[in-house]
Amino acid sequence: MSIVTYEFRRGTYLLSANDLRTKLFESLWDIPEGISYNAYLLIDDRTVLVDGFKGMYADLLIDKVKELLGGRRLDYYIVHHGEPDHSGSFPYVVKEFPEVRVLTTDVGLKILRNLYDVSFNYDVVSDGYELKIGGRTLKFIHAPWLHWPDTYVTYLVEDKVLFSCDAFGSYGLLTAGYWDRDYGDIHMSLSKRYFANIVARYRGQVIKAIDKLSKYEVNVIAPAHGPLIGDVGSAIRRYLSWSKPVFDSKVVIIYSSMYGNLEEAIKYVVKGVEEVRAKAVLMKVPDTAITYVFEELLDAPSIALGVPTYDGNVFPYIKLVTHLMTTKMLDGRHIGIVSSGLWAPVVEAKLIKDLEEVKAVIEGKVSILGRAKESDKEKLIALGRSLGIKALELSSTPT
Ligand code: FEO
Repeated sequence: MSIVTYEFRRGTYLLSANDLRTKLFESLWDIPEGISYNAYLLIDDRTVLVDGFKGMYADLLIDKVKELLGGRRLDYYIVHHGEPDHSGSFPYVVKEFPEVRVLTTDVGLKILRNLYDVSFNYDVVSDGYELKIGGRTLKFIHAPWLHWPDTYVTYLVEDKVLFSCDAFGSYGLLTAGYWDRDYGDIHMSLSKRYFANIVARYRGQVIKAIDKLSKYEVNVIAPAHGPLIGDVGSAIRRYLSWSKPVFDSKVVIIYSSMYGNLEEAIKYVVKGVEEVRAKAVLMKVPDTAITYVFEELLDAPSIALGVPTYDGNVFPYIKLVTHLMTTKMLDGRHIGIVSSGLWAPVVEAKLIKDLEEVKAVIEGKVSILGRAKESDKEKLIALGRSLGIKALELSSTPT
């Protein structure tokens, strides 16, 4: 396997490893499209490595860095963020270049020491600190919680390049350099899904970071996953719209169905949603992987949850969805519940309890015993209508 190498500014190289071996990112999110890990190498009077790869690709990174350095030493190693999708190569790099000075934050240092049993030289970078590397200057800007508390980003002042680490990243493999020039909008969904899965919990910090960075003129965003971004204005608008979020006029209907009865009932909810001309997005779990479910949930004002009873409790995959809604802080959504059981309809109250932490507005609920009866059908259609109307209202409300 080789890595993608692209000198996109004089003396500034993108080095990217394409990973198709990892099936679940963070052991949780399906990535059939793969993912890229981007490092960057700056060659000036001083030499600087920015970020790295997952550990299994460390040799590729080191070989390429040595080749491009052509016998020169590596002076600095910027570690923006300690998550092992970037820092897995860290212990190999510091062993290969023992003289390198690692640039990290206080929290980053703690994370690196907890992850790796290796000694290294380091400097803790303060917010706003500038480092001259020859004709060019690096400015370090703390951006905590994008995506962990250790995170900072680096602005290459003279070339107006922002090395943004996880922020503005994207799933998918890299074959060329720029999102806008080389990919068109292919990366739109991949980037939105990455945001929804990985960054969404930190929406407030995204808005703060974008505000903090607004005083810098940026011509290129160089993220740690996915293509370079030349159309910086569009990227920022996208991130802000996902962070606020700006709602779509849709009802996302997430359900499980063991024997088809609940699936049949859900069709009446869809009917109600479509009657008021809102969009119904059907997602059966686990048939549909949660990575896609959370991409849809990011901008969904209204949600219907179809939940069977399982061992006297909420069906496990719906439990996973509500648990992740809590961790991703998808607060204040309008939710309709369709629950099913056969002899004891206990699951509705349990699901409502699970939704307490996300401050869900319960728009309505229908409890079914076995198959939906005629009397249930009108209630299901009415629930769909009411969720659809709410979606239309909230999607047209300016944020
Ligand atoms: Fe791509 Fe939070 O690591």
